[in-house]
Amino acid sequence: MTTCPVGGVAVVTSLVFLRPSLKRRQNKHPFVGFYPLAVPGKLICIKSHPGPMREGGGRLIRMSLLRLTWVSRAQKRRVGSTVQEKKAQAFATRGLTKTYGEGRSIVHALRGVDLDIPEGEIVVMLGASGSGKSTLLNILGGLDRPTAGTAHFRDINLGDLSDAGLTRFRRDHVGFVFQFYNLMPSLTARENVELVTEIASNPMSPERALGLVGLTKRLDHFPSQLSGGEQQRVAIARAIAKQPDVLFCDEPTGALDSTTGRAVLEVLNDVNAELGATVLMVTHAANIADMAHRVIRLVDGQIGQMHVNETRRKPAEIEW
Ligand SMILES: Nc1ncnc2c1ncn2[C@@H]1O[C@H](COP(=O)(O)OP(=O)(O)O)[C@@H](O)[C@H]1O
Ligand SMILES: [Mg+2]
Repeated sequence: MTTCPVGGVAVVTSLVFLRPSLKRRQNKHPFVGFYPLAVPGKLICIKSHPGPMREGGGRLIRMSLLRLTWVSRAQKRRVGSTVQEKKAQAFATRGLTKTYGEGRSIVHALRGVDLDIPEGEIVVMLGASGSGKSTLLNILGGLDRPTAGTAHFRDINLGDLSDAGLTRFRRDHVGFVFQFYNLMPSLTARENVELVTEIASNPMSPERALGLVGLTKRLDHFPSQLSGGEQQRVAIARAIAKQPDVLFCDEPTGALDSTTGRAVLEVLNDVNAELGATVLMVTHAANIADMAHRVIRLVDGQIGQMHVNETRRKPAEIEW
């Protein structure tokens, strides 16, 4: 439990977790069942009265790794700029390796990938077919496991999680959008989104999710009554309805023409800007990289190149 001075300002140097409900408290894994309330490098202002801090009915607890660095008001401006320079990492991989098969038929899909992905960015991953893009995305998204090396999401080592732990990680933190929309043909747009909102811990309403992707007037349409671009927007609504920390998109515009493709990119841009979700998008279309904060090029299972875009293009300006 943390007690705080009134009106103080603090930089968080370790994760601060909130334990939201009695049911979740029964989880044995130290991180599963905790919601990150503040991440390292974040500046927090304390306005509450001295005593235990409470938020949303939960209780802030002190873990062994929790340290708050208190700074005076005079230092606030300087600390603020430091915070801006040092973004928290969403993902960090070290020596990430994935092989399929063995012996003479072994395939080296990833060959020791070291990668840091900051929170809140749109990251576009480029590379030729077979360079390992989907493999990397699937490991970061908890759909697959590496053969060697480590992958962390914030302070969670994905390699430490059991299969059930990985399922919880995907349910609580991650949304997926694939090239082929994977919608249930016998369910309406609203019902397809409800599949997710019924099991997520902190969902938005299906109506709001479909509204965010511009489909308010298509709630009761079946997939067969929607265009390809609209179906992909339903898939995006389904992925964002649980308010994920990270949205993984594997070739999300791969099956779309330029106009509908741009509309889908527009939605992904908005999701990043308005919901703050980190977006990891795999594509082989190099022009899409212009809208990213960061571009990673995979070559034969390794990071060939990484750069940060000084200026980003709007999806509408992207050449197809
Ligand atoms: N389940 C699998 N079994 C065997 N080989 C696979 C499997 N998945 C991917 N691969 C191989 O791993 C390499 C990387 O694949 P992938 O990550 O899908 O590349 P990309 O998404 O960049 O096209 C390819 O050579 C592919 O054939
Ligand atoms: Mg692929």
